[in-house]
Amino acid sequence: MKGKCLFKYTNVIEETVGNEGVSSTDIENIMDKINKSYNGLLEKYKNKELGFMDLVHQDLRPYTMLKKYSKDFEYIIIIGMGGSVLGAQMVYEGVKGIYYNERKTSKKVYFLDNSDPEKTFEILNLVDLEKTLVFAISKSGNTAETLANFLIVRDRLIDKVGNCNKNIIVVANGGMLRDIAEKEGYMLFDIPENVGGRFSVLSAVGLAPLSCMGINIEMLVKGAREMDELCKNEDIFKNPALMNAVIHYILYNKGKTISVLMPYIERLHKFGMWYRQLWAESLGKDGKGQTPIVSVGAKDQHSQLQLYLDGPRDKVITFLKVDEFRHDLTIKSSNYLNAHKLSELINSEQEGTEASLTSKNIPNVSIIIDELNEYTLGKLIYMYEMQTAFMGELLEINAFNQPSVEDGKRITRELLRGKSLEELTGFKSFDSKYVIEM
Ligand code: PA5
Repeated sequence: MKGKCLFKYTNVIEETVGNEGVSSTDIENIMDKINKSYNGLLEKYKNKELGFMDLVHQDLRPYTMLKKYSKDFEYIIIIGMGGSVLGAQMVYEGVKGIYYNERKTSKKVYFLDNSDPEKTFEILNLVDLEKTLVFAISKSGNTAETLANFLIVRDRLIDKVGNCNKNIIVVANGGMLRDIAEKEGYMLFDIPENVGGRFSVLSAVGLAPLSCMGINIEMLVKGAREMDELCKNEDIFKNPALMNAVIHYILYNKGKTISVLMPYIERLHKFGMWYRQLWAESLGKDGKGQTPIVSVGAKDQHSQLQLYLDGPRDKVITFLKVDEFRHDLTIKSSNYLNAHKLSELINSEQEGTEASLTSKNIPNVSIIIDELNEYTLGKLIYMYEMQTAFMGELLEINAFNQPSVEDGKRITRELLRGKSLEELTGFKSFDSKYVIEM
């Protein structure tokens, strides 16, 4: 498996993009802070607060064994929300591609990651439940959307199959989901308590379903493990996660409040969605945070780039680029496209976009991967987890909780218990005086 990755930050340095970029003085001025953040993070790790860093050394056998278990299932449904589902989705699509369910040879995989009734209904109609392996994943075991979907799918399974114990695998540490799993005797996995949802892709949350989907989880974790070595380097010039966190921190303080991730390969679109949650939910606290956006190149050049080039100067861009695509096609034409491959076109478009942003002094970094596979994806995932953790230290916030999200969940529960919104929040959500019929 190929696996070379480069982190290029030439286009953020002051010599390239002027004072909207990062100068060596900018870094020197905060060197004490950088050291404090680095040491603070390692201290947290030593105090067993950062379980996600231990996952790169875990025994993978409980998950690799699932491959055999799942052999005869033709469909897999993964039920979960946010950090409990996005990781598996990102890796699956990152490795298998965006049309995975269209392929005759592979299992059909569906992610039940919302409470949208149409989605649940449609997915239930697409699978043969008898041949379906269902994962219900929730660390708390009490997330409303996950529980609701699980209870609906389980009812259907019981109706169709009767005893459906072999069709269900639960990953939960507590709550109603774990109670049901224990009572019914479903296969059950734990998540280390010190691993938070959005940092949990390399725990049972991601690895159990991914192993059943035919992903090489050993290579995924190997990539992460090697990145872990790099990210423990205290020399910022040898540590890509620390360097990228510091770059984003300095630029954030210069008004770059938006971070745009631009993969130039569609297989990384879900990586972008995963990153969006990681960056937003971890860092959006105490009035601080950098808004993450995902734009897929080259297509979003025709939708977003005008804003990035000519709009408010509040963005830092990250390009994700691969050297080698799994498949390629040659163009026959009477113009400049002739004899070129599609891969040359998309990568030239990336280079063109990078050059035009740089010429306008818009800071951008690039991650260049020779080939997108489990190993390189593992590296990328871990780099971003560490980068987020370092950024949390630099911003002096707790990157590992999400206190404000909890309030919305509480209101939802009370609404379903029959309370009114006005009673719960003290304000009217619908006043016909302020509504226009259309
Ligand atoms: O990152 C997080 O902690 C959240 O996104 C959670 O993963 C999400 O809310 C789902 O929670 P749970 O796993 O408890 O169902």
